[in-house]
Amino acid sequence: MMQPSTTSHAETLARKIEAREAAVGVVGLGYVGLPLVVEFAQAGFTVTGIDVQRSKVDAINRGESYVQDVPSSVLKPLVAAGKVRATTDFSVVAGLDTINICVPTPLRKTKDPDMSYIVNSCQELAKYFHPGVLVILESTTYPGTTNELMLPIFEAEGRVVGRDFFMCFSPERVDPGNPQFQTRNIPKVVGGITPACTELGALLYRQALETVVPVGSTRVAEMVKLLENTFRMINIGLVNEIAMMCDRMGIDVWEVIDAAATKPFGFMPFYPGPGLGGHCIPIDPIYLSWKSKQAGIEARFIELASYINGQMPHFVLDKIQNALNEHSKPLKGSRVHIMGVSYKRDIDDVRESPALDIIHLLRMRGANVSYSDPWVPKIQADGIALEGIEAATGCREADCVVIVTDHKKFDYAALVEASKLIVDTRNALKGVASEKIVRL
Ligand SMILES: NC(=O)c1ccc[n+]([C@@H]2O[C@H](COP(=O)([O-])OP(=O)(O)OC[C@H]3O[C@@H](n4cnc5c(N)ncnc54)[C@H](O)[C@@H]3O)[C@@H](O)[C@H]2O)c1
Repeated sequence: MMQPSTTSHAETLARKIEAREAAVGVVGLGYVGLPLVVEFAQAGFTVTGIDVQRSKVDAINRGESYVQDVPSSVLKPLVAAGKVRATTDFSVVAGLDTINICVPTPLRKTKDPDMSYIVNSCQELAKYFHPGVLVILESTTYPGTTNELMLPIFEAEGRVVGRDFFMCFSPERVDPGNPQFQTRNIPKVVGGITPACTELGALLYRQALETVVPVGSTRVAEMVKLLENTFRMINIGLVNEIAMMCDRMGIDVWEVIDAAATKPFGFMPFYPGPGLGGHCIPIDPIYLSWKSKQAGIEARFIELASYINGQMPHFVLDKIQNALNEHSKPLKGSRVHIMGVSYKRDIDDVRESPALDIIHLLRMRGANVSYSDPWVPKIQADGIALEGIEAATGCREADCVVIVTDHKKFDYAALVEASKLIVDTRNALKGVASEKIVRL
């Protein structure tokens, strides 16, 4: 039932949040959503996760985690205690007080933002919407999404944001596989459509997370995430370009960066590599450039860095080809063994991984490709269907071994011993002197 005044919805919800009696919901139970479910539940809330994938929902209800950063030993007792449950049925929204949305925001083939996951989930939520609810979008997106795209879906039937319901944007900054910084201790930026929205959003996060950083609007919060990831992407682009220059000039780029990093101010080291990967760094800046074009500004830094980073798999291919040529071996027909295929160290995610591009390029040039990755037993993506093999066998039998992802679990001494030729794209063999090694 509608309550008589603005303050009463806000006050009622604030009271419930502070008492940890608010019924918390999380929509989208992936790398971002599931850790958040666990944090809220550990803070004492009863949490309902909603996902369209039945297999994920069933796994959670069995207490089994499929996200590397959430051990089943943590999830299981929360499920057993009734603090966490999952469902594919959006009608549970009728009983929820807060809803965090963590659905995917990929790019379309045309490099336009794909907002369909956000729109679809909001349309489902709207069917069971009720006064007094707080909705927070966490998916990375372009500035304006919360206001322009989501708000109209919930504003129907004369409902007023900041009075009858509350909306915020809070960027997710999780870094999968990082043991030092996880959902709980990464400061959480949150911006609401109205000050009351911001206050409630900040209050909710304060119950479960260590540091909350309120900002003045949803647009600021949306832009924060894009600035962070654009900063990273452009600096990686810069250092990749420096790496290509150093290669041409016969300078060891790794030594250059290490020495530059001794400067105690005004420099931050970034490292070259085989190309960008993952769901964030290659994609998020494109969201910004898409939106800024609408505002009449060409995002030229982003386009340039994106181009340079996109060249890196080709640069690696040239390195492999040249290294094999030096050994009088043509790439065509050679056996190339890739060490590490996930997009970064010590994680199991191959989305946008440069290893996939490198495998494609190698195959196009007629190489026989195999791989080893302790985190990825098989690849089924981008038209590649490949099973990993034992590292020792792969290295021994290959004409060239390529370190694409520098997992800590690899036995690098054994790798050097067993291989005939190694292209190291990550400086994983730093300090190892061997004629066999070709560095980026
Ligand atoms: N993975 C990261 O490291 C990371 C870091 C920061 C931000 N993000 C951002 O967070 C968002 C989520 O990323 P992720 O990595 O968790 O994605 P994910 O693919 O791991 O998880 C998303 C989940 O949403 C579910 N889903 C899709 N459509 C739905 C719908 N209509 N209703 C309910 N559930 C639905 C999917 O089934 C999936 O389980 C993205 O915007 C991403 O850019 C990700």
